[in-house]
Amino acid sequence: MCGIVGYNGNLDAKEILLKGLEKLEYRGYDSAGIAIQNEKGVTVFKEKGRIADLRNIVDKNIGGKIGIGHTRWATHGEPNRINAHPHQSASGRFTIVHNGVIENYHLLQREYLKDVPMKSDTDTEVIVQLVELFANEGLSTEEAFRKTLSLLHGSYAIALLDNKNNEVIYVAKNKSPLLVGIGKDFNVVASDAMAMLQLTNQFIELQDQEVVLVYKDKVEISKLDGSPVARQPYTVELDASDIEKGTYPHYMLKEMDEQPGVVRKIIQEYSNDAGELTIDEAILSAISESDRIYIIAAGTSYHAGLVGKQYFEKLAGIPVEVHIASEFGYNIPLLSEKPLFIFISQSGETADSRQVLVKVKELGYPALTITNVAGSTLSREADYTLLLYAGPEIAVASTKAYVAQLAVLAISAYVTGKRKGRKIDFDLKHELAIAANAIQTIVDSKEELHKISKEYLSHTRNAFFIGRTIDYYVSLEGALKLKEISYIQAEGFAGGELKHGTIALIEKGTPVFALVTQAPVALNIRGNVKEVVARGANACVISMEGLDEHDDRLVIPKVHPLLTPLVSVVPLQFISYYAALDRGCDVDKPRNLAKSVTVE
Ligand code: F6R
Repeated sequence: MCGIVGYNGNLDAKEILLKGLEKLEYRGYDSAGIAIQNEKGVTVFKEKGRIADLRNIVDKNIGGKIGIGHTRWATHGEPNRINAHPHQSASGRFTIVHNGVIENYHLLQREYLKDVPMKSDTDTEVIVQLVELFANEGLSTEEAFRKTLSLLHGSYAIALLDNKNNEVIYVAKNKSPLLVGIGKDFNVVASDAMAMLQLTNQFIELQDQEVVLVYKDKVEISKLDGSPVARQPYTVELDASDIEKGTYPHYMLKEMDEQPGVVRKIIQEYSNDAGELTIDEAILSAISESDRIYIIAAGTSYHAGLVGKQYFEKLAGIPVEVHIASEFGYNIPLLSEKPLFIFISQSGETADSRQVLVKVKELGYPALTITNVAGSTLSREADYTLLLYAGPEIAVASTKAYVAQLAVLAISAYVTGKRKGRKIDFDLKHELAIAANAIQTIVDSKEELHKISKEYLSHTRNAFFIGRTIDYYVSLEGALKLKEISYIQAEGFAGGELKHGTIALIEKGTPVFALVTQAPVALNIRGNVKEVVARGANACVISMEGLDEHDDRLVIPKVHPLLTPLVSVVPLQFISYYAALDRGCDVDKPRNLAKSVTVE
């Protein structure tokens, strides 16, 4: 959460920073700001709201070839203009942008800054005030910066300007992501390569507790203690067009449409020369040798993990526990003798998951990360990585990454099961290809899905999603999708559990979406539908071909029973999308959220 950018070069910085921030808006969009430095000093522009609001207040005539910027997802201090970044020191000499959380800022404030009046409610301001304090005591800016960093507990990606030196941006990182982009006659800084891909595809990844001096013609990396670090840039393979919406009105719509292609790409990436599904040998051994898998994840990725448990247990014969990351780290259950931890995370940056990974590594257990972002923190810090190959997911609501997570989990479990000589009587590659076609059929029925959304969700305050066994896990994801983008209160429920309390909430017209894709429980869930209809619910049954009945509102193509989640989630995504659209909600950037949640 929060995104930062910096530019030092020969061009006018403000447009580069604003464009960069637009690409990072998925990381937070409560408020935003930029600081431009020229021979007269540093000028800050900041505003509550989106980058578009910031654009309106930036002085079009301000020139400057060095600058920093920030888009915020508030942690300390409400989202308003004062708390927006950049923040400046008391005299205005130093200007900072920061992504992360300084856990000991109160202590630092009490110990060092008692006499310095704070302008904002943020933890960030403490950093810039400390730099000024130490500079006033006679340290050089670099020394003051290093001394300040050595006092910070928590996470940070920082860019700092000194208005007495318009040649350099001071940069540092700990736990929050940060890259330095290398160009000809310029260098840049960004939380995510996407922000600067228009200018360069050469990036240097920074490690925790590194400090970088970013000049326009060189970058100097060192450790916090000053020892120099040499690191070559790598090429980011993304194409700038991958991160554009093109003719789509929303990223979410584009990303939902991409889902059939994502499944096909995964089949291709995980096939060997003989055309068989495969995963890296070391990963296969790690999975096969474990006596229990612990899946750790948050939100949509957690929902994917619940389905993944079915895959590993049914196909690979390995018991699995699925845990919410923010709970697990502080309440570690009794572990088995040879556990393997699997972290599922689209972004690879989720702080809740990372704190578990740190603990798991301290305990000495192996960890595998399944992520969409190569080189992300969770990927770097785990022993193994499986990539999702879904392409950048920019809409805050996760769609194609979820489907990709399911496909990669299925492949991992299937390949492990085969390796262990388990009896598996279907060809997953073939079945995934069928699932990709089925998703395409649903993607092509947008108009019908829009109608369904209008029919059931136009005037409602709440909605329920029910299913049994694997359908239950999809109903959790369906409910999350609907609530996060349309703000309709929605709950996913195990069909049989509803009558144990929650059915009290069903009244005339309450929409209930019921999934019927699993033959062994098809009659049971239909029984649950009857129960809610008898109490006035407006039931929308989504069934699978072969299990369908006359009155079902939508019938999805038949796929392998284990792969139904890849397909049945898609109509729920579209229905949520249209509900949000029809209510005038900001589909790609729902209120209070951010794409990459880098705070606990
Ligand atoms: C919902 C959504 C979130 C994320 C969660 C974890 O649409 O996207 O629930 O799934 O914040 O994020 P990652 O997968 O990046 O760890």
